[in-house]
Amino acid sequence: MSHNVALSFADGKTLFIAVKPNELLLDAALRQGISLPLDCREGVCGTCQGRCEAGAYSQDYVDEEALSARDLAQRKVLACQTRVTSDAAFYFDHDSSLCHAEEPERISALVISVELVSGTTAILHLDASAAPRQLQFHPGQYARLRIPGTDDWRAYSFANRPNAQNQLQFLIRLLPDGVMSNFLRERCQPGLTLELEAPLGSFYLRQVERPLVLVAGGTGLSAFLGMLDEMAEKGGCGQPVRLFYGVTQEQDLCEGARLEAYRARIADFDYQPVVSQPSPAWQGLSGYIPEHFDRRFLTDQACDLYLCGPPPMVEAVKTWLDQQGLGEETRLYSEKFLQSASTRRG
Ligand code: FES
Repeated sequence: MSHNVALSFADGKTLFIAVKPNELLLDAALRQGISLPLDCREGVCGTCQGRCEAGAYSQDYVDEEALSARDLAQRKVLACQTRVTSDAAFYFDHDSSLCHAEEPERISALVISVELVSGTTAILHLDASAAPRQLQFHPGQYARLRIPGTDDWRAYSFANRPNAQNQLQFLIRLLPDGVMSNFLRERCQPGLTLELEAPLGSFYLRQVERPLVLVAGGTGLSAFLGMLDEMAEKGGCGQPVRLFYGVTQEQDLCEGARLEAYRARIADFDYQPVVSQPSPAWQGLSGYIPEHFDRRFLTDQACDLYLCGPPPMVEAVKTWLDQQGLGEETRLYSEKFLQSASTRRG
């Protein structure tokens, strides 16, 4: 006998599906025309996460980087790993419109350039103007890029906004020995064709109704650059915007001129780079990002806080909010970079 399951979304819509015995929640939704955002289908990337509000369920495999012990205690689930054992209700923290988006597209793009923007970071510029139409995505979402000549795919957040010319940017951390890093250093040439699949993910800027705090860890900055480009086009978003950009060492910092330019282009925008292990010469903020949050900014009016970076950084900020008693009123949206080979981002 099937179970009746309600899926509700951030825009207030609720959709109902029937889930067959032993059927995965994600598969049941897809079967009934609801495309929950997904990527790995293996319990690793965390893209399909939601929260169970009522009912009983079990999960097959949940990688600890996709959902922490605290997430599990809060009944967060991965739809690709969840089987319901009763009627149930789940909440997904994104608009229902993301579920009716067309399937991610696979397109080809030409390499324009690899721009070294710090000692450890590059921006890959791609030209997808030969694609049949403009690639539609929300800044903050990501694409999977196939490393030419291999079956290896890597996931990276877009570092710019959608545009009619289909020019795409991705901020990529250069690892000492990574398959994408080696490709960029050794084989990537202008004019080379690269295959990509997009859009993916459910991390994007919601309707801005409250002050924004954006927290980027390392190349997590990529997800925010497109959002800030959009705000800059409009002169702002109607609310104050504070960006914290954390790196390990100051030589990891990049896109400083672009961030500085946002100060002039986005009303009431400020950003702070924070270096966790600075050299003695570093004059800016050091340590961990939550140490530098302006408590008054966070408490004068409830904020929307967006986090994009490695899991320890995301968890550290969540823990800090709870310790400060701000976990309830702060609306939190997060995207974790994952370490597994097939889903690594940034
Ligand atoms: Fe479910 Fe990746 S699609 S965890």
